[in-house]
Amino acid sequence: MIKYIGSKRVLVPWITETICRVSQVTPLRRVVDLFSGSARVGHALKAQGFYVIANDHNAYAQVLAQALVGADARKYPVGKIQPILERLAALKPKTGWFTQTYCLKARYFQPKNGARIEAIREAIEAYQADPTLRAILLTSLLLAADKVDSTTGIQMAYLKRWAPRAWNELHLAYPPLLPGSGEAHLGDALEVAGALEGDLFYLDPPYNAHSYLGNYHVWETLVRFDNPATYGVAQKRTDVRERKSPFNSKKEAKAALEQLLARIKAPHLVLSFSDEGFFRPEEIEALLEGWGFVVRLSRPHRRYVGARIGIYNPQGVKVGQVSHTENREFLFVASQKRAVALALAQGEPTAKLALGG
Ligand SMILES: C[S@@+](CC[C@H](N)C(=O)[O-])C[C@H]1O[C@@H](n2cnc3c(N)ncnc32)[C@H](O)[C@@H]1O
Repeated sequence: MIKYIGSKRVLVPWITETICRVSQVTPLRRVVDLFSGSARVGHALKAQGFYVIANDHNAYAQVLAQALVGADARKYPVGKIQPILERLAALKPKTGWFTQTYCLKARYFQPKNGARIEAIREAIEAYQADPTLRAILLTSLLLAADKVDSTTGIQMAYLKRWAPRAWNELHLAYPPLLPGSGEAHLGDALEVAGALEGDLFYLDPPYNAHSYLGNYHVWETLVRFDNPATYGVAQKRTDVRERKSPFNSKKEAKAALEQLLARIKAPHLVLSFSDEGFFRPEEIEALLEGWGFVVRLSRPHRRYVGARIGIYNPQGVKVGQVSHTENREFLFVASQKRAVALALAQGEPTAKLALGG
């Protein structure tokens, strides 16, 4: 799966287990993952047998979800996809806008890989008639490009010296598709929430002021392939400045979450948050009032790698102190059924039954 800041890579088993525990009390079928990002949570839930409806407002995230959540592996088996990937992998490299911008003006990929990515991306346009197949091929390309990039995992900047992995050859592989169907929407959570129907909504909104479009602008351009106007050393798309999310604003996040919770029509909700976000757990519980019975689950979590390595100046000298290397992750489970809250609180040393409902 793709490197994605704020992604629930380590927490996926905990999240799926929690949702499965809700389903043991009251069987769930449709789960909405409203801020799907890398699609790894939706993918894990699909693997558990849920019908997953993913949504995100960035195009690269929709493509990942179209493949990892939406595509049925039985209709797109490896035998059908692999020959196409081999044809794409054999294409003559092309040094056009993408390579110029992201490998020469900026340095996200070695030019040899950038030019292959560009040729492959261009050829994928021929598969527009089958949007699922196109998304599978794009996902394979995104996952391959992510393995040879030269960043720390976000595209706000690239590394001064090439990352060792950037020298590797780009390799297209069959993505981890699952049998069964699902949905992948591209929309603003606030706009689509009321229209999506699910037995349970999983919410994982951004925690801080860093926009995902700014952090993953190269993926957005690779998927849209629209040669946008760019700016700065990082060559970000200029629409990073316009396409904002209220969930990235300390001022707007609370009202946005309030509105979102009012629009969701579902009997159960699981909300991810960390103690590094805009809200204290008590504030979230106050926002969830009206949702019925609320349980707060929490786990310690190792922070992102930069926080553990420390802070260095360009000469490689350690400057500054990292305040902490561990934070706390929360899952708030809100349910209209008391039995759900009681079942989740049982045997969970960290559980806190926040409201009586
Ligand atoms: C914390 S990440 C989700 C990570 C995801 N659960 C994972 O494991 O990869 C938050 C996601 O919300 C998306 N997002 C931010 N604002 C949004 C909005 N208003 N509507 C829909 N998606 C939004 C971002 O693009 C980002 O992918």
